[in-house]
Amino acid sequence: MSSPARPADLALPIVDSALADRLRARLARVEEDLFDHASSRAPYVTEAARHLLAAGGKRFRPLLVLLAAEAGPRPDDDAVLTAASIVEITHVGSLDHDDVMDEAALRRGADSANSRYDNLVAILTGDWLFAKSSELTSTLGPEAVRIQAETFTRLVEGQILETVAPGPDEDPLAHHLEVVAGKTGSLIATSARYGALFSGAEPEVVAALTEYGELVGTAFQLSDDILDIASDSEESGKTPGTDLKEGVPTLPVLLARASTEPEHARLRELLDPAQHDLAADAAAHAEALALLRAHPAMDEARAYVVQRAQEAKRLLQALPSGPVREALEAFADVVAVRSA
Ligand code: IPE
Ligand code: IPE
Ligand code: MG
Ligand code: MG
Repeated sequence: MSSPARPADLALPIVDSALADRLRARLARVEEDLFDHASSRAPYVTEAARHLLAAGGKRFRPLLVLLAAEAGPRPDDDAVLTAASIVEITHVGSLDHDDVMDEAALRRGADSANSRYDNLVAILTGDWLFAKSSELTSTLGPEAVRIQAETFTRLVEGQILETVAPGPDEDPLAHHLEVVAGKTGSLIATSARYGALFSGAEPEVVAALTEYGELVGTAFQLSDDILDIASDSEESGKTPGTDLKEGVPTLPVLLARASTEPEHARLRELLDPAQHDLAADAAAHAEALALLRAHPAMDEARAYVVQRAQEAKRLLQALPSGPVREALEAFADVVAVRSA
């Protein structure tokens, strides 16, 4: 089965029209492959997997594979296209599981799998997608299998560590940044790495793009967390304030908790789980969300993200200047200041 019609626009401003056309054409192939791969012997798994694929999403990770592949001599190698499917399939599996963990109702502007079906369907569909991504990875050889295994461990460990409070001697911010790098930086780093590796780029370019992906990926998650507070669901396709409600720590919350100004005492009190249960108390949740939106921690968090994006862009000096490097720079900029 081929994919339903989906606009082939790139979630990234690319000035060079020849590069944009190449990426669009390859992404369209990946799009078809994704729907073909999402075919289980159990019809309900196929339906649930395709539901989230069809709901949209930015396809950032496959786009990054394809863009990084432009740094090598074989950007349209079959292995590059397979790798692009692998990262999106891994991502969608992680979204299914994440929405169970976060009890989220909306994903990609549609019902999340756990709310449209139930937790069991969402978990099994996520498992199945992970299995499928492993199977596809095995066609790319032992190095890909090793990279995928390490990436997957970091991603899952990041999701697990998010549920574990930092130890008494641990800095909450350092703990949080480790979670973010694991749950999101890992797969975005691997997306850039796969693209460079399978297109035959030089080892130092592969290394620079991997590090770039890690930084961009971390910035991407931190931006997403800011959006969870600042945006409405029409922009993000998700329910705003979910992290706050679920007690998932984010950079603005950690910074607001660490602030000492008396005028922010009410917010600090609302953010203290010993005093308020924001999941159960809708009024306290709404008040905390409004106070957090107006708190200087939001701008501090934004500045931190911009810094990470700048660092990522500096790594691109390993690439020759030209449209590909410019597009990767634009990618880092979009991540730092994205609104959806
Ligand atoms: C959502 O990822 C989960 C995070 C890591 C923030 P995306 O923002 O890439 O989600 P889609 O794929 O566009 O739906
Ligand atoms: C998602 O983290 C990370 C993974 C799916 C691995 P979040 O819980 O912060 O992402 P959203 O906000 O639900 O997209
Ligand atoms: Mg979530
Ligand atoms: Mg989550």
